[in-house]
Amino acid sequence: MKSQVAIWEFFYEKRDIRDKKIHPAVFPIGLPTKCIQLFTHKGELVLDPFVGSGTTLVAAQDLDRNAVGFDLKQDYVDLSLSRLGQTRLEGDSQQLAICDDSHNIPKYFEEETISLCVTSPPYSNMLNRPRKNKSIRGDLRKNEHYDTVQQYSDDPRDLGTMKAHPYTETLGEIYKGILPLLRPKAHCVINITDLWWENKRIPIHIYTVEVMERVGYELRNIIIWDRRNLVNKAGIFGWPNNYITLGTTFEYILDFWKPPSP
Ligand SMILES: C[S@@+](CC[C@H](N)C(=O)[O-])C[C@H]1O[C@@H](n2cnc3c(N)ncnc32)[C@H](O)[C@@H]1O
Repeated sequence: MKSQVAIWEFFYEKRDIRDKKIHPAVFPIGLPTKCIQLFTHKGELVLDPFVGSGTTLVAAQDLDRNAVGFDLKQDYVDLSLSRLGQTRLEGDSQQLAICDDSHNIPKYFEEETISLCVTSPPYSNMLNRPRKNKSIRGDLRKNEHYDTVQQYSDDPRDLGTMKAHPYTETLGEIYKGILPLLRPKAHCVINITDLWWENKRIPIHIYTVEVMERVGYELRNIIIWDRRNLVNKAGIFGWPNNYITLGTTFEYILDFWKPPSP
């Protein structure tokens, strides 16, 4: 019943990575855990096309699901594998991290073998600019990360280097390749947030829904991830501190599925 509520909240646990020098944009283990519990059974196969620090693989290991994650950066693949070594609660499922461009995912799987695809892709080129720490108030804002650029890489294939429209088109190409690998009615969950770019609001969650529907997915739900419990020192808007940029306190969890065969 709790999962019928379309606003979700997660808390960090000790195993979560919160050091931005290790990986700049990690979601809590609770997020893929909830999706895996909702949409798969033990022993089934989960895919994360942008695996980063391997959070989805850790959740899959906890829940005894097989899982494969892809990342462009070897350092992140190594990090993912090291996190898996730390825990094995039960079961004999396997989790794997592969260093490759997610365009190449169709080379690795047979059709209709994946039960869930869940990920948090780069949020367009959001990290490709000096960090302003707008969700942190007062003196703490100018911490060690202030004004640093924390992009994943400058590889032109990295979605984090792309502006909104080439970004969503590329996301569409990647997901078009993944669709035949999913079982009918398999869910495909994308955690994403909108951006500010040159003082304009860029609703990439809308562009993402449009492109996903164009390449054959069906939108099932839009869930709000309420991040107020995780954002440091959130307070009132306006004086005496700078306002908190709207949108830093929530993200979208877009839930699609592969439509059932006719
Ligand atoms: C938001 S992070 C994922 C974080 C992950 N959810 C976690 O908890 O660690 C997105 C990842 O996508 C990777 N990436 C970007 N473009 C890619 C591509 N074309 N193929 C594979 N990985 C890519 C980046 O290196 C980055 O680690």
